[in-house]
Amino acid sequence: MIGVKFSNPVFSSSGTSGYGLELSPYIALGDIGAIVTKGISAKPKQGTPQPRIVETASGMLNSIGLQNIGARKLIDNVLPKLEDTDTKVIVNVFGDNLDGYIEVGRMFLNEDRVDALEVNLSCPNVKEGGIAFGRDPELAAEVISAVIDASKKPVIAKLTPNITDISPIAKAVEKAGASAISVINCLVGMAIDVENRRPYFKNITAGLSGPAIKPVALRVVWETAKAVDIPVLGIGGISTGRDALEFIMAGATAVQVGIANLINPGTISDVVEEISDFCTENKISDLKEIRGII
Ligand SMILES: Cc1cc2nc3c(=O)[nH]c(=O)nc-3n(C[C@H](O)[C@H](O)[C@H](O)COP(=O)(O)O)c2cc1C
Repeated sequence: MIGVKFSNPVFSSSGTSGYGLELSPYIALGDIGAIVTKGISAKPKQGTPQPRIVETASGMLNSIGLQNIGARKLIDNVLPKLEDTDTKVIVNVFGDNLDGYIEVGRMFLNEDRVDALEVNLSCPNVKEGGIAFGRDPELAAEVISAVIDASKKPVIAKLTPNITDISPIAKAVEKAGASAISVINCLVGMAIDVENRRPYFKNITAGLSGPAIKPVALRVVWETAKAVDIPVLGIGGISTGRDALEFIMAGATAVQVGIANLINPGTISDVVEEISDFCTENKISDLKEIRGII
């Protein structure tokens, strides 16, 4: 897929397992198809003030605001430590504007340890960049082709579900040269602090993830896979092999595990094993046999 040979189709999702190394005390990094790092910008970013997370009945709301260490620190301090690990590395990147996306893309031009960039066009928690680009097909295409030009890497476009119809955006990023599309980022939600009669988060709205969003994510993956010919990476509420299989049957080529890692950091190994058991039991030799089968 995307010109990279992954050992398996189960990746970590951006922002839910740090820069990759954080998972290493709990799971062999080689068991992960690819580490997708926390979103990285050219310069470090502080993010939003506390509180930043709240639990919901079947998921979590977050308002991190893309806090990150910046590309320089990732390149100098983190990538060398990933050198001898046998997982692929996908760096999730974003900018406050088009120049910001180009600047961060260019910083990975000569970084051979990085197999691909995932471009975040979908963060619900920042005013500039993020979601504003992911709702406009022309802007989304402009960002994707600029990052491909700047980085010379395979580029995965991460799109938002907070939109009426994903097809025009998906088609635009495919035309602009994206190697794949990952969906979904968080849904926009909110929580109220009843005692203080105020929104719980300073930004008022926040990003919802976890089991609650899985049915929406499945629908968006299915719609995206119908709209484009490039691979789709399914994300949203995946915590078991059967969840992952649902995404594959809806048309996903690979999946990413997000906040399930916060509950059990070994989730990715379990998901890989459950998919493999299902394939053995059902005499499936290649996931292609069931991809998009619905
Ligand atoms: C705390 C937190 C931080 C996140 N940070 C990022 C990020 O920096 N970039 C990004 O593209 N997605 C980010 N996401 C979105 C996840 O990668 C994923 O798309 C979303 O959580 C849905 O998957 P899940 O339900 O399995 O968690 C973040 C999610 C959470 C919960």
